[in-house]
Amino acid sequence: MRVAFLGPPGAGKGTQARELAREWGVPHLATGDMLREALAAGTRLGLEAGRYMDQGALVPDDVIIGLMGERLAAADAWKGFILDGFPRTIGQAEALAKLLADAGQTLERVIFFDVSETELLRRLTGRRVCRRCQTAYHLVSAPPKRPGVCDKCGGELYQREDDGEKTARNRLEVYAKRTAPLLDHYRAGGRLVTIRGEGPIEAIRYAIHEAVESGR
Ligand code: AP5
Repeated sequence: MRVAFLGPPGAGKGTQARELAREWGVPHLATGDMLREALAAGTRLGLEAGRYMDQGALVPDDVIIGLMGERLAAADAWKGFILDGFPRTIGQAEALAKLLADAGQTLERVIFFDVSETELLRRLTGRRVCRRCQTAYHLVSAPPKRPGVCDKCGGELYQREDDGEKTARNRLEVYAKRTAPLLDHYRAGGRLVTIRGEGPIEAIRYAIHEAVESGR
């Protein structure tokens, strides 16, 4: 099970990847979560990455490729993984293909989450995230039972710095310029499956199951 979730900010990649990784027993490798952890820990990598993330810009490829190269080499990723938010540029996709080929592996499926821009902005600006377990909520469409408190672990919910409207719009522009070209890249390789990323979360999960099964 080697799958990448591809889609614009707010498409629901993390929401689905967290559940499916548990179900499939593979690690959920989310570059955004890894960078935010490094930033919270105050590491040099985290502080450097934070300067880009605050603007809604992409962190340079060499930093991301180094980070993911190390993470993919860890024993828990040998049996498979869900990539969330990586690769995000053609350079990252090429580096990933090489990393996997060196280990005698390939990426089996790339799932593209198709969501309208209006819905993406609504989701991003209303999102709240648990500081402890990273579960995402939405003030209107997926509110926690108690305001400000995570249903799963009791952690504090917060609004991400980059979820303000101005930065969210910039992230969508960066996505269109730098990441959307990956659709043709993976379509040409026959590994891309597009799913509709709007509608009930369970229905989308079912569509992902079908998309992954179709490639096995
Ligand atoms: P990252 O953390 O990866 O952010 P992103 O890709 O912009 O994706 P999001 O986390 O915003 O959205 P998501 O698709 O996971 O949606 P979610 O499930 O939370 O990256 C942040 C930054 O780090 C980047 O801007 C960049 O600076 C840097 N970075 C990271 N990776 C990088 C890389 N590879 N290269 C360079 N830089 C990198 O859902 C969103 C909301 O919608 C939630 O509120 C959720 O409850 C709600 N929701 C989910 N599904 C549904 C549904 N079906 N219906 C209604 N609401 C829904």
